Amino acid sequence: MFETLSAASADAILGLIAEHRNDPRPEKIDLGVGVYRTAEGATPVLDVVKAAERELVANQDSKAYIGTAGAADFNSAMQALVFGTTSPDKRLVTLQTPGGSGSLRVAAGLILRSSPDTTVWVSEPTWANHVPLLGGAGLNLKPYPYYDTSSHVIRIDAMLETLRSAVAGDIVLLHACCHNPSGLDPSAEQWRAITEVIVERELVPFIDMAYQGFAEDIDADAYAIRHMAERVPEMIVASSCSKNFGLYRDRVGTLSILSADSKTRDVVDSQVNNVVRTIYSVPPDHGAAVVSLILHNDALRSAWVGELTDMRERLRDMRVLLNDSLLAKVPQHDFSHLVRATGMFCFLGVSVEQVARLKKDFGVYMVDSSRINVAGITPANVAYLADSIAATVAGG
Ligand SMILES: Cc1ncc(COP(=O)(O)O)c(C=O)c1O
Repeated sequence: MFETLSAASADAILGLIAEHRNDPRPEKIDLGVGVYRTAEGATPVLDVVKAAERELVANQDSKAYIGTAGAADFNSAMQALVFGTTSPDKRLVTLQTPGGSGSLRVAAGLILRSSPDTTVWVSEPTWANHVPLLGGAGLNLKPYPYYDTSSHVIRIDAMLETLRSAVAGDIVLLHACCHNPSGLDPSAEQWRAITEVIVERELVPFIDMAYQGFAEDIDADAYAIRHMAERVPEMIVASSCSKNFGLYRDRVGTLSILSADSKTRDVVDSQVNNVVRTIYSVPPDHGAAVVSLILHNDALRSAWVGELTDMRERLRDMRVLLNDSLLAKVPQHDFSHLVRATGMFCFLGVSVEQVARLKKDFGVYMVDSSRINVAGITPANVAYLADSIAATVAGG
């Protein structure tokens, strides 16, 4: 039966990783990857994760299944981390999921059960897997304007105007912080304006938070979620521990659903757990058990905040360093959006031809849109990188 299939289109990033690996030039730079890296180019296990894992291995006495919702202690700690709440909210259900992607997929399953024909508005551009993942699950997606690729600002007026044209019950997918791929997030004032339209038009916010702690800090990065949670009757939040705990391959995340009242919440709880049962039955445990240990222990938690701060500050420093170096070499080109962006990603802001030239002439690798992962920049390679970019943009 498989002869009816043709090969799936290759993942652009995987192709880029392979090309970079096979490039013999020692000065080559990989700005395409999707993970955090240290100045030494490593994606290490956090020290605090190692410490929690040691404790877990010593004390865990069973590998029996956990339920569809995962571990209650993990879910309550994550609900508090995401929503800033001190006690469980009777309108809110939070369940452990296999990463942020698993969370998005379960959310799609729930939406398909409650409102299969509804439109989900997604930012243009958005994370490369949002459309395949949510569209592939069967949701109807439509884009709203978000990023101006020439002036490198958020198209807030166009975004609000489009959302005003949405019909009651439509869902709006938003990035809580460190918008991927642009790195540009709405200001607090802009978030309030977005919330007003959502309330006015009776839309449902669906917030994806894959980088909590990578923009400003844990609480500031959750501003949109916490602001909206106080104002809207219903909301969906997908959260990932892949980046902020460095637990990428352990698959740790949560899905939270806010319902209009506690009675509806109980129905949603049963439905969403049933969705999980029909997809992967129960979530993986190890990474979530590690996160739970960290969040419930004051010493581990503050060690985690310290390591998270180090990652965030390194990314920030590299943005500043690259912008300063480019300013010195090609002052006629404005790269200031590099420092207005936060998190791992942003657009360099060069053409597809220039992306190709950077790869061919200098061994500098990035995806065609010129989205870069600033974690690929180090104090040791930034001068070469800036020279390469300067030579490329000066050449037109
Ligand atoms: C915006 C966004 N959402 C979700 C995810 C999914 O993360 P996870 O690896 O936890 O599935 C990512 C990962 O890159 C992302 O950038």
